[in-house]
Amino acid sequence: MEEAAPVAAPGPSGVTASPRPVTALADVSVEEEFRFSTGIGEFDTVLGGGLVRGSVVLIGGEPGIGKSTLLLQAAGSLGHRGVEVLYVCGEESAQQVRSRADRVGAANGISLLPEVDVSVIEATVLAEKPAVVVVDSIQTLFDPGLDGVPGSVGQVRATAARLVRLAKSHGTTVIVVGHVTKEGSIAGPRVLEHVVDTVLYFEGASDHMFRIVRAVKNRFGSVSEAGIFEMTGSGLAEVAQPSAALLAGRDGGVSGSVVMATMEGTRPLLVEVQALVTPSYLQMPRRLAVGVETPRVLQDMAILERRAGISLGSHDVYVSVVGGVRVSEPAVDLPLALAIASALKNRPVGDGVVVFGELGLTGDVRGVPHAEARMREATRMGFGDVLAPASAASAGGSARFVGVRTLAEAVERTLG
Ligand code: TYD
Ligand code: MG
Repeated sequence: MEEAAPVAAPGPSGVTASPRPVTALADVSVEEEFRFSTGIGEFDTVLGGGLVRGSVVLIGGEPGIGKSTLLLQAAGSLGHRGVEVLYVCGEESAQQVRSRADRVGAANGISLLPEVDVSVIEATVLAEKPAVVVVDSIQTLFDPGLDGVPGSVGQVRATAARLVRLAKSHGTTVIVVGHVTKEGSIAGPRVLEHVVDTVLYFEGASDHMFRIVRAVKNRFGSVSEAGIFEMTGSGLAEVAQPSAALLAGRDGGVSGSVVMATMEGTRPLLVEVQALVTPSYLQMPRRLAVGVETPRVLQDMAILERRAGISLGSHDVYVSVVGGVRVSEPAVDLPLALAIASALKNRPVGDGVVVFGELGLTGDVRGVPHAEARMREATRMGFGDVLAPASAASAGGSARFVGVRTLAEAVERTLG
């Protein structure tokens, strides 16, 4: 029987639609993505090697963390090298932006547009044809054709969609700032993550030493990258020796302090994990964690109790990662458990030891990725010993390697 030719047929809604010719995927031509440097090495790194033409980048973070500062510095450096940048400031006056630009040395080569109406922004971009548009911030924009105040979910979505269309149809690179509030505002960057190409988040409390910019989504690169900055009197500075800065002033001879080798993206970083354990006067002893997730701390405490015989039921336990760094990888288990055990026993783990390793629920110490890079960083920073999963032995490095198989063994070796 002959196959019926496709014909326009009324759909369930009664509306008639005609089929369109389709294209073989293999015949679609791909233009090579065109990247350009922002002139800020750490920023380029998180972006996956610079900005991609026509892409949309969202930068989220709490107010005051440094989003505007970073973008103004990037704009200044782009402008300096002849890349036209239009900086749309919806939050600050032109004078405020100018004075900040002076502070960070970025006043030249940037065009400024104090505007919140997305139609006007579109028209201006079409007329001026800048290579890069910075929108600071999405929460201040509004689409005059829609109801709702700026910052509402509807407005944020609609204005972002128009910016994305603008980027895709004209090859303009758009960088959008989105504020995240402590309460996790509903019209924050979260609602935009799926419409943009790249999502970066600024981390680190504003009273801390470092600001870490992490990629959480990147259509044009790896999400395992992170950029490390420090807020100075003249803007954000790249931190060349983050381990040294984080460990400066550490007293290795006290109990409850363990140096951990963690990974910031693909780079190793030494951070200090601290614990304080005190007799509790509360019915429900207190557990407080800064820089590590509480469930992880609770689990490590349970493993300590059950697998290493260290009872914490009548103690308050406080743990913290020094310097405002957040460690969310499992390799923090062993350092964390040792810091708690050290604090409880009031015995130092010993100066010159770097620790990393994941703990299984049976109390086994499990291997973690990038053992070699972690060990190299320990050696580079002058640590003589590395206490790590036994499986990491093959990773090499010149520090003395102490491989452990269980938490009990690690406690015995360091605090026994
Ligand atoms: P900002 O970039 O305005 O934050 P966001 O745009 O994310 O809200 O950063 C503001 C903070 O940084 C503010 O507290 C002042 C401080 N800062 C400096 O310490 N040095 C500087 O050179 C600049 C420009 C800001
Ligand atoms: Mg700002």
